[in-house]
Parts: sequence; structure tokens; C-alpha cells
Amino acid sequence: MFAVYADSFSAEDPLQGLVVGERPDPEVPDGWTTVTVKAASLNHHDVWSLRGVGLKEEALPMILGCDAAGIDEDGNEVVVHAVISDPAWSGDETLDPRRSLLSERYQGTFAEKVAVPRGNVVPKPSSLSFEEAACLPTAWLTAYRMLFVRGGLRPGDTVLVQGAGGGVATALITLARAGGLKVLATSRDETKRKRALELGAHEVFESGARLPVKVDAVMETVGRATWSHSIRSLRVGGRIVVTGTTSGPDVDDAGLTRIFFLQLEVIGSTMGTKTELASLMSMLDATGTRPVIDRTLPMEQARDGFAAMADGDLFGKVVFTR
Ligand SMILES: NC(=O)c1ccc[n+]([C@@H]2O[C@H](COP(=O)([O-])OP(=O)(O)OC[C@H]3O[C@@H](n4cnc5c(N)ncnc54)[C@H](OP(=O)(O)O)[C@@H]3O)[C@@H](O)[C@H]2O)c1
Repeated sequence: MFAVYADSFSAEDPLQGLVVGERPDPEVPDGWTTVTVKAASLNHHDVWSLRGVGLKEEALPMILGCDAAGIDEDGNEVVVHAVISDPAWSGDETLDPRRSLLSERYQGTFAEKVAVPRGNVVPKPSSLSFEEAACLPTAWLTAYRMLFVRGGLRPGDTVLVQGAGGGVATALITLARAGGLKVLATSRDETKRKRALELGAHEVFESGARLPVKVDAVMETVGRATWSHSIRSLRVGGRIVVTGTTSGPDVDDAGLTRIFFLQLEVIGSTMGTKTELASLMSMLDATGTRPVIDRTLPMEQARDGFAAMADGDLFGKVVFTR
């Protein structure tokens, strides 16, 4: 079948190991099912995989892609939950130490078909297109959990979103606004700052700029480049929810003094549960809020989408269609 996959790793030039070609049809173990992919979205996870982060050499070749919306074996429109937990695990799937994301241990979604456990298939609301639904299982679900589950934010709270242009960041801005929060956002790029305002941010700032107020929480996906600004932007007792380190994980100054003196909370967050994915879809259904799509490309042109993401040249999600 047609597939977009990683054949080798390169930390410096991630696109080197990307192949748009053919792979065998997926194997379907007992209790699993096949989804025919109509749309799949790109995440930074896919670029990390090509850099050799989070993917093992012995797993190559690996079809990339965590997210998909498509048609199940009974002809239903569905969304795939990307967190694959152990069959023996019950409860919050993201806490299973043996969990993996599609495209880490099991073949991913950038293909004609993807095999997943039956329990990972969620009905797609008819109000969402396949392209919109394909944006949800990683970036949008991650943003939902950061804000409303791990971040515990309530309407009226003030939140800072770092690196406004990213897939997770645009989801954070949109969902935070729809959830009644006061939204501040930073970006390195003036055009992206303007677009963040259009998306619902109340105020935007250059990366690193001093804010006029201290915030209840910071949503951190950028890492090294923004960490110290995030710590400095929090009110006493505020919290930073961290889910990514696009600019690198090693910070020069972790701000430990500030963290203990101001009694800040540092909270990790990863993906979200299947139940949270269903709640996210209900929220979009109820509010009319929709994912921000930077560009939609036929899956055959996946390389162009990967290049834009590797260059940081995006505002919102890249969606591949079949
Ligand atoms: N833990 C999880 O479950 C989980 C789930 C999803 C994503 N993630 C992680 O979260 C991160 C974001 O993912 P994504 O898919 O949203 O990626 P993305 O679309 O590529 O977004 C990256 C954004 O980060 C900002 N950025 C990058 N380098 C920067 C720098 N040097 N200084 C300031 N800002 C910088 C940019 O914002 P501006 O250009 O606007 O400044 C860019 O738009 C990735 O590291 C990903 O691996 C983790």
C-alpha cells in the first residue's frame, strides 16, 4: 500500500530518511481493526522520529504519523486515538508505562490503512470534516489536557502560550479562548503574532518580552528558548505545564530559586486519554471552534509539509489527505 515512512535517521537533516513509497499492508492482531485513512495530520513528533528521537533503529522502516480520521471496517466515520496502551492496562492510558504512540512501536497513519486496537477507535462527529478531525488526536488533545486537566484552569484565569505558531500552540490559544480564559501569547514572528490575535489571543508579545501582568499558568512547548521567560512570567503560586522542547531540553537557568520562593508548580503533561479526546470533540461540537489548518496537501506531497515544519514555517496544522 501507499505509505510515507522513515527509512533512516539524521539529526541534522531529518528529511534525508523520509520515503514516500510503498509498504506492506498492516498486520491486524486479534482485537485490532483496520481504519482506511481519509486524512492524517503532521506533528513535530514525526520530525523527531526522523531525527532518531523516540524511535528505535530496529523499528525501521516505520510508517510515520500519529493522527488519522477515516472509515472503519463497518463503514463508520472515525477518529483514531494515538495512545496504544497494554491490553492489560486499565484507567488513564497516558500513565501506562508500556504505552506507545502510533509510529513508535506500531506502524503509523501516513498510509492507505492503519491497524489499531478496537478500543482506540472513536466516532467522528458529523460536524467535523475528516481534515479537522485528523488534527485532534495529538496536538489538540495535548492542548486540551494541558489547559483543563493537568493545568486545572478555570474560566477567568490568565494563561500564557509560548511560540504561538505551532500546532499545539494554536490549539492552546483557540481552546483557551473558547474555555473563557484570558489568553496571552508570544511568537518570534510579527505575522504569527497578528494571526494569534485573530485566533483569539487577547494580547501578543515578542518572544521574551516583559508582560504587563503575571499569569496564572504558562503552557510551554518550546523549551530552552522560552523556559526562563515562562518562569519569570508566573504569579506567586502559578504553574507551568510543559509538554515539549522544540528548541531543546537543556536550559541554562532552570529558575530553581524562583520556583521554590514563589511556590511555583512545574507540571508535565503528555497526550490525553480516549475519554478526553471524546470531551474535546464535544467541546468543538458545542462551541463551533475548529482546528487551525496551515495547509492541506495530498499525502503524496508529504515531503513539502515535513520541510515546512522542520523550518518552523507554519501557523497551525499540516493535514495530508488521501
Ligand atoms: N508530550 C506530548 O504529548 C506532546 C504532544 C504534542 C506535541 N509535543 C511537543 O510539543 C512541541 C510542539 O509540537 P508542535 O507539533 O506544535 O510543533 P510545531 O508545530 O513545529 O511548533 C513549534 C513552535 O515552537 C516555536 N519555536 C520553535 N523554536 C523556537 C525558538 N527557538 N524560539 C521560540 N519559539 C520557538 C515556534 O513558534 P513561533 O514561530 O510562533 O515563535 C513554532 O511555531 C514539540 O516539541 C512536540 O514534540 C508533545
